[in-house]
Amino acid sequence: MTDRYAVLGNPIAHSKSPEIHTAFALEVGHDIAYTRILVPLDGFVATIDAYRKQGACGVNVTVPFKIEAYQYGMEHSQRAEVAGAANTLRFDPGQSNACIFADNTDGVGLVSDIRDNLGYAIVGKRVLLLGAGGAARSVMGALLDELPASISLTNRTIVRAHELAERFIRIQSNAQIEVVDIAHLTKYQYDIIINATSASLHESLPVIPATAFAEKSLAYDMMYGKGATPFLRFAANAGAATTDGLGMLVEQAAEAFLLWRGVRPQTAPIIAGIRQSANNNSE
Ligand code: ATR
Repeated sequence: MTDRYAVLGNPIAHSKSPEIHTAFALEVGHDIAYTRILVPLDGFVATIDAYRKQGACGVNVTVPFKIEAYQYGMEHSQRAEVAGAANTLRFDPGQSNACIFADNTDGVGLVSDIRDNLGYAIVGKRVLLLGAGGAARSVMGALLDELPASISLTNRTIVRAHELAERFIRIQSNAQIEVVDIAHLTKYQYDIIINATSASLHESLPVIPATAFAEKSLAYDMMYGKGATPFLRFAANAGAATTDGLGMLVEQAAEAFLLWRGVRPQTAPIIAGIRQSANNNSE
């Protein structure tokens, strides 16, 4: 019987997850069906309850339901617990002990892309994370695990950056996170600057001085599907190497596939294929 999965979000029409997981399944010879489900903003639990009752095996969850997905889990991976948000749920059947296992593969997806696909070691580097919402919270733990020289955190609303830093320092008392006010960013330079704000969604540029980019620094926009975002254009003008979030998207999906199917598919051919068709469409 075909195993069924879906991605849940709002909006969801733009999601590349069905394409990615279908390609993974083909690659490893598994029989799965993967669809998109548009969830009403006040209907996460009802929608997922109904989908689960139909015999589904798991879901990915995207904006704005990652915190609700975490709360829906009965057991949690450590990385989901650290983030307090989940992007992957696995429905484990059982007569009396059915379990919903919640995981968060965003952080490992980001780190795999930066370190393995792009070849930028994070260990010993100065990292700046822009944003203090759910996206930043989901990747902070995995970035800390890479042992950067420092992680600086900044946000338009600085109190949220302090709250996020405190959350991680509570969990990992040795976490080296420094909150930097945007106005003070002119004093520092960074090797890796990651845009975890949702500014790119609205075609806007998070405020950051061009001087924050060190020579040969990497500017990473976690957004994919918006072309060269204002952040990436600004970073390129400042002399940084730039990349969007396609690699992260495919890597987080590969980790979810591993959780569900016990095998981690190759990601490079899928990243190249999606990149190629995006280039063809823009010509
Ligand atoms: P997500 O789950 O995508 O992180 P979120 O929790 O709503 O969404 O957080 C959005 C993040 O993007 C926040 O850090 C937000 O900054 P504020 O806390 O000041 O609202 C940031 N953000 C959104 N639009 C922005 C913009 N135009 N410039 C800078 N930061 C922006």
